Amino acid sequence: MIITGRTRLIGIFGNPVHHSLSPVIQNAALETAGLDYVYVPFRVQPGEDLKSAVEAVRVLNLRGVNVTIPHKVEVMQYLDEIDPHARAVGAVNTIVNEDGELKGYNTDGLGYLSSLVESTGFDVKGKRVIMAGAGGAARSIFYALLSEGPASLVIANRSRDKAAALIEEFSDEFAGVEISATSLDADFLAKGAEGADLLVNTTSLGMGSNPPLDIVLDGLNAGAVVSDIVYSPLETPLLASALAAGFAIHDGLSMLTAQGAVGFELWTGTKAPVGIMREAAMALLGIKK
Ligand code: ATR
Repeated sequence: MIITGRTRLIGIFGNPVHHSLSPVIQNAALETAGLDYVYVPFRVQPGEDLKSAVEAVRVLNLRGVNVTIPHKVEVMQYLDEIDPHARAVGAVNTIVNEDGELKGYNTDGLGYLSSLVESTGFDVKGKRVIMAGAGGAARSIFYALLSEGPASLVIANRSRDKAAALIEEFSDEFAGVEISATSLDADFLAKGAEGADLLVNTTSLGMGSNPPLDIVLDGLNAGAVVSDIVYSPLETPLLASALAAGFAIHDGLSMLTAQGAVGFELWTGTKAPVGIMREAAMALLGIKK
């Protein structure tokens, strides 16, 4: 890598930030595209430090940053403009610096949807969707899926109240969709994803040594897609069962690279080399092709 007087800086603000795959994914993409940018991690504490760090984006003329845990909500108050989708979701994960004007975006939902379509060809419109989980990641995906006009969407969460609260927040905006909350309990898992066209896991079940999302898949509709945002392992037990049962799958690395690609395109105005980004992430995670 050659750093010149013209090299533009992009970064990621988080705490912790050392586990982030984004520096490797983004630098691989920048290098492949032959762009004079470099992407670096910054560990930033919440509160005044976050405020100063955002100010530094302007002062040091960074092209932009990603924002990760725990800053995605807090950072919004320091920006000049917030994209409507990020405003609706209530969190920002990408900031673009246009000559000192900072605009916040949320690329998670868009990344989720675009990678779902790209890897499976699935069209959400008019379909029946079941989502497991109602945490931070679920929020963006929930909003993105609802925006596509499914016939129905069920959120199953360990703490049912959290799923109900999420629905309460958005039910007016998506009055045309039949939305409901349920407990992610033994009954739900045994009944399975009955009648669904899309099953999405947004919980941490299946990640690393966590127990899997052990849900019966028999009742899924023909042509259904099973989607998991967990990317380590890449083939979670849920995805392995779906494959064995003949369903199409959408893995967590697809979403991760697609949301990174949206940021890359916002910062550089150049189409992201998504395949290179995925390969870089797989190499870092030690996943064989
Ligand atoms: P993220 O930002 O990755 O979504 P999060 O906001 O902490 O992280 O959300 C984690 C999700 O995984 C939640 O839906 C959580 O359920 P609760 O809201 O009931 O906590 C779910 N989750 C985590 N561990 C779980 C487990 N062992 N069984 C079922 N759900 C679990």
